[in-house]
Amino acid sequence: MYRTHTCGELRIENINQTVTLSGWVQRVRRLGGMTFVDLRDRYGITQLVVDEKAPEALKANIEELGREFVVQVIGKVLERQSKNAKMPTGDIEIDITEINVLSPSEVPPFTIQNDTDGGDELRMKYRYLDLRRDAVRENLVLRSKMAILTRNYLDSMNFIETETPVLIKSTPEGARDFVVPSRMNPGEFYALPQSPQIFKQLLMVAGFDRYYQIVKCFRDEDLRADRQPEFTQIDCEMSFVEQNDVLETFEGLARHLFKEIKGIDPGEFPRMSYAEAMNKYGSDKPDTRFDMIFNDITNIAKGKEFAIFNNAEYIVAIKVDGASEYSRKQLDELTKFVQKPQIGAKGLVYVKYNNDGSIKSSVDKFYDNDDLTSWAEFCNAKPGDMLLILSGEQTKTQLQMCELRLEMGRQLGLRDKNNFKPLWVVDFPLLEWDEDTKRFHAMHHPFTSPKPEDIGLLDSQPAKVRANAYDLVINGVEIGGGSVRIFDSQLQSKMFDLLGFTPEQAKAQFGFLMNAFKYGAPPHAGIAFGFDRLVSLFAGLDSIRDVIAFPKNNAGRDVMNESPAPIAQEQLNELNLQIVKQQKEA
Ligand code: AMO
Repeated sequence: MYRTHTCGELRIENINQTVTLSGWVQRVRRLGGMTFVDLRDRYGITQLVVDEKAPEALKANIEELGREFVVQVIGKVLERQSKNAKMPTGDIEIDITEINVLSPSEVPPFTIQNDTDGGDELRMKYRYLDLRRDAVRENLVLRSKMAILTRNYLDSMNFIETETPVLIKSTPEGARDFVVPSRMNPGEFYALPQSPQIFKQLLMVAGFDRYYQIVKCFRDEDLRADRQPEFTQIDCEMSFVEQNDVLETFEGLARHLFKEIKGIDPGEFPRMSYAEAMNKYGSDKPDTRFDMIFNDITNIAKGKEFAIFNNAEYIVAIKVDGASEYSRKQLDELTKFVQKPQIGAKGLVYVKYNNDGSIKSSVDKFYDNDDLTSWAEFCNAKPGDMLLILSGEQTKTQLQMCELRLEMGRQLGLRDKNNFKPLWVVDFPLLEWDEDTKRFHAMHHPFTSPKPEDIGLLDSQPAKVRANAYDLVINGVEIGGGSVRIFDSQLQSKMFDLLGFTPEQAKAQFGFLMNAFKYGAPPHAGIAFGFDRLVSLFAGLDSIRDVIAFPKNNAGRDVMNESPAPIAQEQLNELNLQIVKQQKEA
């Protein structure tokens, strides 16, 4: 038997018992003639002790130990002389009589403790050692708990967990596909699913009624803190439902998780239209933990000598409460912030509504006190507040102001990680114009249903058509998205047509779905939550990498197993593939 107890288990009640423990050597300390060893496993740390009077052989064995050796020890539980209240096992120690080295260890490349000395790259290269650290493992324990709670919840609601294939035909969902060559079908490729979208719709045609799957999805897109090339969705689909049924069911899931994991009830989730979210926050995933909503001052700020405003399509102000005492230096830094190439504003205008009632702005040359007071009133500013103003082309300026708003929220400590503000964003536009290809793209995906009342606009004003599509947003993070689907093959054909598919192309790509719809498709709708994002939000982390056991870096590489990697010529031959080295363009 390797162990009778774990390293986190023994307490004062166990005194005088003889126990066997196995684990990793966290550290060895020698104090006079005594040697103390911290033995660690997933469950905790137990102190072992060997005193001077121990047999020489045992002392010699202890001498050999180094950090991260795996050992088995047998000994007696003793009450500690100096207890450690910070450790659950801090009242006891094990007076050991026998030690077996099960597996030696080289000196690890970084210390395996919470405040490690290992840099990011190094820890990723030795991820299995990084995962030994409590802080990292706890994120994965949380992930496991959340997966189980999700399964239990959906199971209790009659959802059937169904696996869908990983080698599929390419389905456009906005990103690029990862492709897999087929050896048996030379020159042909599978794609890895960007999501199980079409399969779950086919399961509805099959009469499954309620499907879910906690499933890996693959997207070849630029990576960021909240994006990995392979990530996990809680993917669902329901039949004979309307939008509201889906929102209620999945709000229920989110609330269940908040209750069970965080012990909180975030209340009913507010719903906001896409249009309102863009007007008030310049974003379809607003962080509603704080206000600072947009005030469109275009009409009241034009007409004086200030050409920048006069030439602007849109002028927007946010009111920052209690910020009238921002210094020159702080304002210069904010200006630099909005001028960063990633944000791209030309400049920043401020208006300080001082505590004494006076008003001071960066555009005093062009606007008198009455003008500035009217802006302040329009924005509901009170003495002590400050307005920050950006102007320019509407869409760009909204995006810039969105970044500035988030930065101000951060600077003023309004983005508390323990404060959760969920909301549903609904009524997304159906289509999105792409300037590069001069075509419409589906904003969600091509299977999303237009709002019935907007179907009449499909031919005349497609850009105005709203979709029955929705996102769950929590603290400015898009946690999930879904839609009511088209289940009528004629409407689906029309949609493909609007998206620029010829009937032949649509048939080649989606023929099987269109065919299926000929055999009795029920009305259906669904949603997918980004599971990694949800877990990292619950864990209070900024990157989803920390909730993935073996993540990729920002270049899409796994630095531990060094993938992607070239494959052998034989393998290439078998797959009928040739590597064509691209000439560098002059
Ligand atoms: P969507 O593309 O909105 O919808 O994806 C659903 C959710 O998945 C998460 N997500 C990601 N998480 C990590 N890394 C990524 N690269 C990544 N891409 C997306 C987000 C997102 O909200 N089939 C539809 C769902 C449906 O209509 O039912 C779909 O995949 O949290």
